[in-house]
Amino acid sequence: MKRTIIRSTGKAIPSRLVTNDDLAEIMDTSDEWIRQRTGIEQRYWIPEGVEMGASDLGLEASKIALERAGWKPEDLDFIIFATLSPDITFPGSGCLLQHKLGLKSTPALDVRQQCTGFLYSLATADSYIKSGLANKILIVGAEVHSTGLDKSTRGRDVTVIFGDGAGACCVEGVETDEDAGVLASVLHADGGGAEALMVELPASRLPDRLPLDAINNTARHYPVMNGSFVFKQALRKLPEVTKEILTKTGVPIDKIDMFFPHQANLRINQAYQQLMKIDEKKVFNNIQKYGNTTAASIPIALDEAMEKNLVGKKGDTIFLFGFGAGFTWGGILYRFM
Ligand code: COA
Repeated sequence: MKRTIIRSTGKAIPSRLVTNDDLAEIMDTSDEWIRQRTGIEQRYWIPEGVEMGASDLGLEASKIALERAGWKPEDLDFIIFATLSPDITFPGSGCLLQHKLGLKSTPALDVRQQCTGFLYSLATADSYIKSGLANKILIVGAEVHSTGLDKSTRGRDVTVIFGDGAGACCVEGVETDEDAGVLASVLHADGGGAEALMVELPASRLPDRLPLDAINNTARHYPVMNGSFVFKQALRKLPEVTKEILTKTGVPIDKIDMFFPHQANLRINQAYQQLMKIDEKKVFNNIQKYGNTTAASIPIALDEAMEKNLVGKKGDTIFLFGFGAGFTWGGILYRFM
């Protein structure tokens, strides 16, 4: 049977370190507030004043993943690019990355599922592989948030959370009798939650999609979030999706070696861990260093854990899962072979 396995990972973290104290210099916030509410200590943003889009960070992460897999760009059958901060409105960052990789006709698909973008991408890659449409796929999650955040006190609840970054994975279909690779995926969405976490402008639904008045006088081109509502929804949906995947696969929760939640808020992940009665050491968190890098957060976490040899041994079973804008949520159970 054909199984989808992760051949390699890579990540790109931009150079500009932004501490909580740095943010407190430009808006009314404090290191104490940010740490207490989110666990975040610092994040990285792209350098000021340079032109650098999601595909540029994605390219850096992709080159590392490709090299580790021993693949040339020409070996790829397909590229899937997850981002909520595309380089330009259209075409998608996947096409831009494809060109930067020197490719001429390899298909590229953008996924706009925000915090669960990587999960939707991996599930899509798994389906492409199992249906025979592609066999070697590059998946990228990349975000440049910093150029689109309200850095005044008005935007402090959202702005302190987000970091820039990219993660990439090379995945491949292999014929095997082993119960390994992507064991199961579960994806969900509820568009009823769209307004609880969104960026409205530019908006095709408006007679003028980018009204200058709205940009000058309102915050409608910046992300807005009903933080406490999102927090509560996340804590309802993450346990639900965990139970769903356990039922679907028949794998008991204590056979999962490492949990990789999307890095939205350390408090969400800690509450999840306590609710599910999981050993704290089994839940991977790095939001303290990087903030919330949205579509990049899970592949960056996986890359870091693999670099540290925390996971990656034959038989290691990991759970990748998350909740975010859309609302969207999901989980993927994966076993290394
Ligand atoms: N610094 C200082 N004070 C801040 C602040 C900041 N950065 N942001 C908000 N505040 C203030 C608020 O104005 C409010 O003040 P008030 O009580 O005088 O009105 C107070 O802190 C509490 O704000 P609230 O929004 O209720 O805080 P919270 O405990 O809900 O924490 C979040 C805010 C954003 C950290 C939290 O709600 C969260 O993480 N939510 C989920 C995020 C998420 O999962 N997103 C999905 C993926 S992006």
